Amino acid sequence: MDGAEVSATAGADETRTGAETGGNGMGEPLAIAIDGPAASGKSTVARAVAAALDLLYLDTGAMYRAVTWLALQKGVDPADEAAVTRLAEGAAFDFPGRGEAAYVNLPIVIDGLDATAGTREPAVDAAVSAVSSYQGVRAALVRRQQAIARARGVVMVGRDIGTVVLPGARLKIYLVASVDERARRRYAERVARGEAADYEEIRAAMERRDGLDSARAHSPLRPASDAVHLDTTGLSSDAVVERILAMARSRRV
Ligand code: DC
Repeated sequence: MDGAEVSATAGADETRTGAETGGNGMGEPLAIAIDGPAASGKSTVARAVAAALDLLYLDTGAMYRAVTWLALQKGVDPADEAAVTRLAEGAAFDFPGRGEAAYVNLPIVIDGLDATAGTREPAVDAAVSAVSSYQGVRAALVRRQQAIARARGVVMVGRDIGTVVLPGARLKIYLVASVDERARRRYAERVARGEAADYEEIRAAMERRDGLDSARAHSPLRPASDAVHLDTTGLSSDAVVERILAMARSRRV
């Protein structure tokens, strides 16, 4: 995939419901939804699937992280639901150079500010579950995500893509992996970036965040009824990508 530029700002047709989107209708671009808990391997796998099928890769977690980062930058308390919601509703997103797979974190720009590095800061990690639990924040970001999927074919990654954002997606994958394996992956990512990392701390934070993401009232983490479950524990990402591409082929994606 080339480094196509994509931007998502409020648009006149954003009032359409999720049921009207997702790439299943006549003339709708193709959509593949990949959901699962933190560090289940979604991003790596989705990037490779998108590259193989020449689709856009969109990590919706990065959008929730960017809103959280912007709030912290602007001195908005992440616990202030009304203020964070206003921020999310007014934010403009840009994804310059989304196709360059060499990036660990793909570039994300919010309100003209580059949030790419900031999205992985520990302060963002700590506050993003709260921010992503706000219904108004979710509504604002889901509208942007649906607008992107209407514009072009996409592999979209998150927690609610198959259930809420793109319920009509042609292929829905729900990736899982044991918490130990996921913590090991997140630890290795941090070490590879040259950051300080403590395995036990990462594992505990991950369990806490899984709990919050699954228990929240709005769009909790859960598989769509028509999602294919794939346990990636002990599988290489290449093997997972191959399985997904085989499913895509068998569904003529
Ligand atoms: O995938 P991630 O760890 O970057 O996600 C960051 C947070 O955002 C995480 O707490 C779950 C939440 N999230 C969400 O609620 N819905 C999505 N579609 C994607 C992420």
